[in-house]
Amino acid sequence: MSNLLDSIKAKAKALNKTIVLCEGEDKRVVEAAAEITKQGLAKIVLIGNEAECKKVAPNVDLTGITLVDPETSEKTAEYANILFEARKAKGMTEEQAAAQAKDRTMFGALMLKAGDVDGYVSGACHSTANTLRPGLQVIKTAPGVKTVSSSFIMVADEKLPHPYNAEGVAVFADCAINIEPDAQQLADIAISSAQTAKNIVGIEPKVAMLSFSTKGSGNDDKYFKSVPKVQEATALAKAQAPDLAIDGEFQFDAAVSPAVAALKAPGSEVAGHANVFVFPNINAGNIGYKIAQRFGGYMAIGPVCQGFAKPLNDLSRGCVVEDIVALVAITAVQAGNN
Ligand SMILES: CC(C)(COP(=O)(O)OP(=O)(O)OC[C@H]1O[C@@H](n2cnc3c(N)ncnc32)[C@H](O)[C@@H]1OP(=O)(O)O)[C@@H](O)C(=O)NCCC(=O)NCCS
Repeated sequence: MSNLLDSIKAKAKALNKTIVLCEGEDKRVVEAAAEITKQGLAKIVLIGNEAECKKVAPNVDLTGITLVDPETSEKTAEYANILFEARKAKGMTEEQAAAQAKDRTMFGALMLKAGDVDGYVSGACHSTANTLRPGLQVIKTAPGVKTVSSSFIMVADEKLPHPYNAEGVAVFADCAINIEPDAQQLADIAISSAQTAKNIVGIEPKVAMLSFSTKGSGNDDKYFKSVPKVQEATALAKAQAPDLAIDGEFQFDAAVSPAVAALKAPGSEVAGHANVFVFPNINAGNIGYKIAQRFGGYMAIGPVCQGFAKPLNDLSRGCVVEDIVALVAITAVQAGNN
């Protein structure tokens, strides 16, 4: 765990990207901004003003942090115009854009859109929906990607045996954004998660499309059609990313156990050795990562957003300072891959 985060932080440091933290009203965010600056992981733009930051975190040294207040910034009018241009087709008026551009999360997303920062981190005191919506509305998806999704980087406890995960790390998706993805969205999630595994975790992805069925062993054609959905998603992902190792549909044991794979999915290059796990919906994914965390002793890093045109990430409202520092480092590395 510490090794992976240490190497992500070392990469972030070398990249020296500029990341905006939108919540200068939150003590943990102000403390994290100072810590990131002290460690040299990124240049920080903090949305807020000095009096407010001093009030919530009186002992924090703000040296080296750029404070920006949307109420007084000379950039607010320019950002309002960017917002208006991005959303006028959706019915937004110039007055609405001028008002919304002052919203701190929207202001952060507009800074990213304008190229004034390289990445965005928010969500310590805003919901996932409120944190991601500005990004969905103005940053939008990367070329060739239709779906923004998320991954958890699951890191094994070194003190416990992990016979089915020799690398000690895995990627689980999508446990946090897309509630009931269709086949095309599931294919997008698979391809984006493989990129996260490669670019952020540094492993060669072997992507398993998970189900309660392995290669047609179970079916639900009649009612929910969840198995055909995963089968279709697997075919779409393979066609869209022929260079990636993606296969399915697999039960979890067929995905990780060479013995079960030999019986149920002989000849698959992924079965028995998967390290990226794509769940059929958010229920399965969210429950699955929490089982690995609580029963399996894995540490869950994330969710790490993927598929945005520029890096934008969402904190958990229960986050601690170190979580913010880690997510800023991940965001900086994503910016380096952009
Ligand atoms: C991600 C989420 C916040 C999007 O919210 P939403 O209410 O659907 O957002 P909107 O309908 O306002 O959509 C805004 C825009 O983003 C687009 N969009 C929404 N989800 C998207 C996705 N996953 N990928 C790409 N675009 C997306 C919409 O098409 C819309 O585009 P447009 O306005 O330009 O036409 C929502 O799916 C959600 O709440 N997911 C679950 C989050 C959650 O509770 N997680 C638990 C955390 S553990």
